[in-house]
Amino acid sequence: MTSQEIRKKYLDFFQSKNHLIVPSAPIVLKDDPTLMFNNSGMAQFKEYFLGNATPKSPRIADTQKCLRVSGKHNDLEDVGFDTYHHTMFEMLGNWSFGDYFKKEALAWAWEFLTEVLKLDKDRLYVSVFEGNPSENVPFDQEAFDIWKQYVSEDRIILGNKKDNFWEMGDQGPCGPCSEIHIDLRSDADRAAVSGRSLVNADHPQVVEIWNNVFMEFNRKADGSLEKLPAQHVDTGMGFERLCMAMQGVTSNYDTDVFTPLIAKVEQITGLKYTSNEIKNISEEQNKTNIAMRVVVDHVRAVAFAIADGQLPSNTGAGYVIRRILRRAIRYGFTFLNTKEPFINQLVAVLAEQMGAFFPEIKTQQNLVTNVIREEEASFLRTLEQGLQLLDKVVAETSGKEVKGEKVFELYDTFGFPKDLTALILKEKGYTYNETEFDSELEKQKARSRAASEVATDDWTILMDGNIEQFVGYDQTENQVKITRYRKVDSKKDGVLYQIVLDATPFYPEGGGQVGDKGTLVSANESIEIIDTKKENNLILHFAKKLPEHVSAGFVAQVNTDLRTSTSKNHSATHLMHLALRSILGTHVEQKGSLVSPNYLRFDFSHFSKVTDGELQQVETFVNARIAEQLALVEHRNIPIEQALAQGAMALFGEKYGDSVRMIEFGQSKELCGGIHVKNTADIWHFKIVSEGAVAAGIRRIEAITGDAVKDFFNQQESALAAIKETLKNPQDTLKAVVSLQEENAKLAKQIEALMKDKVKAMKTQMASEIQDINGVSFLAKQVDLDAPGAKDLAYELAQNAQNMFLLLATADEGKPMLTCYISKELVDGKGLNAGAVVRELGKYIQGGGGGQPFFAMAGGKNVDGIAEALKNAIHFIQ
Ligand code: ALA
Repeated sequence: MTSQEIRKKYLDFFQSKNHLIVPSAPIVLKDDPTLMFNNSGMAQFKEYFLGNATPKSPRIADTQKCLRVSGKHNDLEDVGFDTYHHTMFEMLGNWSFGDYFKKEALAWAWEFLTEVLKLDKDRLYVSVFEGNPSENVPFDQEAFDIWKQYVSEDRIILGNKKDNFWEMGDQGPCGPCSEIHIDLRSDADRAAVSGRSLVNADHPQVVEIWNNVFMEFNRKADGSLEKLPAQHVDTGMGFERLCMAMQGVTSNYDTDVFTPLIAKVEQITGLKYTSNEIKNISEEQNKTNIAMRVVVDHVRAVAFAIADGQLPSNTGAGYVIRRILRRAIRYGFTFLNTKEPFINQLVAVLAEQMGAFFPEIKTQQNLVTNVIREEEASFLRTLEQGLQLLDKVVAETSGKEVKGEKVFELYDTFGFPKDLTALILKEKGYTYNETEFDSELEKQKARSRAASEVATDDWTILMDGNIEQFVGYDQTENQVKITRYRKVDSKKDGVLYQIVLDATPFYPEGGGQVGDKGTLVSANESIEIIDTKKENNLILHFAKKLPEHVSAGFVAQVNTDLRTSTSKNHSATHLMHLALRSILGTHVEQKGSLVSPNYLRFDFSHFSKVTDGELQQVETFVNARIAEQLALVEHRNIPIEQALAQGAMALFGEKYGDSVRMIEFGQSKELCGGIHVKNTADIWHFKIVSEGAVAAGIRRIEAITGDAVKDFFNQQESALAAIKETLKNPQDTLKAVVSLQEENAKLAKQIEALMKDKVKAMKTQMASEIQDINGVSFLAKQVDLDAPGAKDLAYELAQNAQNMFLLLATADEGKPMLTCYISKELVDGKGLNAGAVVRELGKYIQGGGGGQPFFAMAGGKNVDGIAEALKNAIHFIQ
């Protein structure tokens, strides 16, 4: 069975058990601060388990793109070294939200594996939770009894909290689980050693394939467990491992999920991968295999993250993606000999292979390829620079051991991993001090831990079961009650309170638009709301303090000045999106957006600079739509199919429900939850203020609207008025500036010529002042020249001279400079060094500088120090 068929069998099976099949959520999470990436199928359903939201169906199944590279579940460093861990993998999952429980879940799992897929029952083992008295969770007798109906007791393993109690993160829904493991070893091996003894023992051919979690608890901030309002099922099956079992191989990388990618790497590098069935391979071959596994694994994670809208960057999720890609690049660089970008070429294979089920990778193939290629090129340049730096470090090392701090510096500033450094050092016959490196790394980790520490209290619930409403499309003010609040203490923001209201007019940050600010006012007090954000399904209002009477009635008031400016920028963003697609082409896709009261920022895919002419056209297009006075047409709740059929723009990496909100201004139609003007005329005017690149194939435009444009024009006008006045109000300002520039250039040329003459004239005079001191022709003197003049004079005097030591000081425009020239014989013979001389004497003029051993200059601040500097020059030759 091909991987495509296996995926389909799973979804069909659960559809036949009345499950609603949903698409995978994006791999990058948008509104969950506790999680950067989807690390399991259940992450997108977290709020259903907690009871904060209602699912579309009590039974759901899907295949979810998962990434386990940060936080509680992190497999990154294992990937490549074994045959069954991945950064990105697909998790097949079926869920019951307060519907079926253990009996059905386990029965269906067994039926699917043994009857639909016909896996050999003799190769399967199951595990159940043994219980944990300190958590007050008993042995899972129920699961044990269910399993006894399908397997003999010796195939049921009791597991501890580590293996059989599943938690998404440090806080959140959790529960005991029951896993299914498969033994893929040969018959001979199975006869020799029982599979049971190898379960959960990190054996590459005895692996877990399916986890059935019985969600019953919520882990609170203080670490205690509380019962959830209902019992749920959360299951996850490793798709690639299932493919391995079904395709009769013993490594995930030997399944058709990976073999086309590996074939491409082989073709590019000219190296061969050996399948897991081939034993006793050389050390060299093993390294090639590891590197190829790293590359084909990582390209999937990176490509899907980019397709879901997460570009590599220097912070947050973008940084994690960048690090994954860099890990692949350096494995290629070191073990596959790839010195040029090559990973980007795998995207085409991936698109071919996965595009049918995950269309985002196919439609964005070009963009993903370009972004990866550019990242590769830039990191390869960094690697080159790092190599040069390493040469320098080696040259400065006495002995054969490089300091750990130096290796850490390379790691920290150049992203140069220690194993790569070690390898290069080894080739040169050096080692480095690992203990020192580790201690630097520890120090850095402690620093960043301290910087990102967050203590989140549990919610204090004032009104339960109250699902919050957003009323901000129609109102900016509302009578409200606080339903829950909690304190969050972070190093970054200090103590803040998050407040949830029953029906809020505050718009939570989302879709690029910043969160509303405003106030909560009761009869006695007024609390400032400094920001509003969405977390899962809750709208959180951020305040520096809590009201004294949290149960009082409040009026929630949005700051309407800010809100109005923001809405102008939001509507202008839509019009500009349409303008860009009309003028540059429909390859333009939104890749990022910030809509704030002051300005708008829009990132989009486009492969070259947007020319001034094109920018002009975009401005004209948007301003024409403003002039047309297009009324807002808001469809608050229309079926997504209908919106898409009408041509509404939707974004990749965004999670849309069955019914959506569509914003329409004439031809501009977008799925959007944001706040907009009632009529495009309200925008007043649109002005682009900058255009530039943010990544390969991604451009960024910043623009302003409304009052910001008025301010902008006013500033331009005053600046121009000031220029005119300075130029004494000429008829034609531009002409006046150009003629000033021309005159300036002419004068500069004349001065240069005059200086040359002056130097020539001075030369004879100076030559007569040179003294012979201990066989050195010595002169230390202040001259009335500028710095280039002093340099010319030094070179003139030095011509044909031997054993010369010159120190010339200048104070052109009040700026002290020292110029030192030392003849080659003195440099080589006496070890004199002009650089050292100016550094030392530069102290007298409060300055510094440097240069080469025979010529150097230093500038400073203290003109009065010149005399002292000149006086001390003689010490160098005495
Ligand atoms: N959430 C469970 C897991 O990821 C199914 O293993």
